[in-house]
Amino acid sequence: MKFFIDTANLAQIKEAHDLGILDGVTTNPSLMAKEGIKGQDAVMQHYRDICSIVDGPVSAEVIATDFKGIVDEGMKLAALHENIVVKVPMIKEGVKAIKYFSDNDIKTNCTLVFSAGQAILAAKAGATMVSPFIGRIDDANWDGVQLIEQIVNVYNAQGFMTEVLAASIRSPLHIVKCAEAGADICTCPLSSILGLLNHPLTDIGLAKFLEDAKNL
Ligand code: E4P
Repeated sequence: MKFFIDTANLAQIKEAHDLGILDGVTTNPSLMAKEGIKGQDAVMQHYRDICSIVDGPVSAEVIATDFKGIVDEGMKLAALHENIVVKVPMIKEGVKAIKYFSDNDIKTNCTLVFSAGQAILAAKAGATMVSPFIGRIDDANWDGVQLIEQIVNVYNAQGFMTEVLAASIRSPLHIVKCAEAGADICTCPLSSILGLLNHPLTDIGLAKFLEDAKNL
């Protein structure tokens, strides 16, 4: 399973990159706004800055919701850097745009996916990645990991090449469950990635080894 970091914070992206396990980055308008990035030029420069840190796919989300607007915006984003993946919402005009991008060799990430039916449409349109939001599904009292399993099974049964990108991760356990379910990619906050390091027996064991090492 590939590890993406789900943030627009450059320091966090660098920290995950320096850990040596980072395969890519996902952003969304909320994450960009959180970093205080204002204006079109600043947004574009921020995507370039992210691409200069990570040599892997960087999802940049369109704001437009009509076919022409999505295509125009997506083309500009894709022209920024070869690693940009155009993130397109799961709406009717978005599906049309994903098909257009697919026909023109531009990579896409279909976002805001909450059902297997939506995932099938995204794959039929030629999306490179599909992003089911598992944390938001859990928040709504359904089972997000079960949706990952279902989409993985459907894609395997049908031979779809679209990668399943588990998004809206809330915990280290979500990452483990998504790996178990066969997700191709997991996009996570830094805290969930670093949370994978933790086990009290590791801390206790290391303290004992270091204590005993004093007697060597
Ligand atoms: C990533 O592609 C999604 O935009 C993100 O994971 C959504 O996460 P959230 O539900 O924590 O906002």
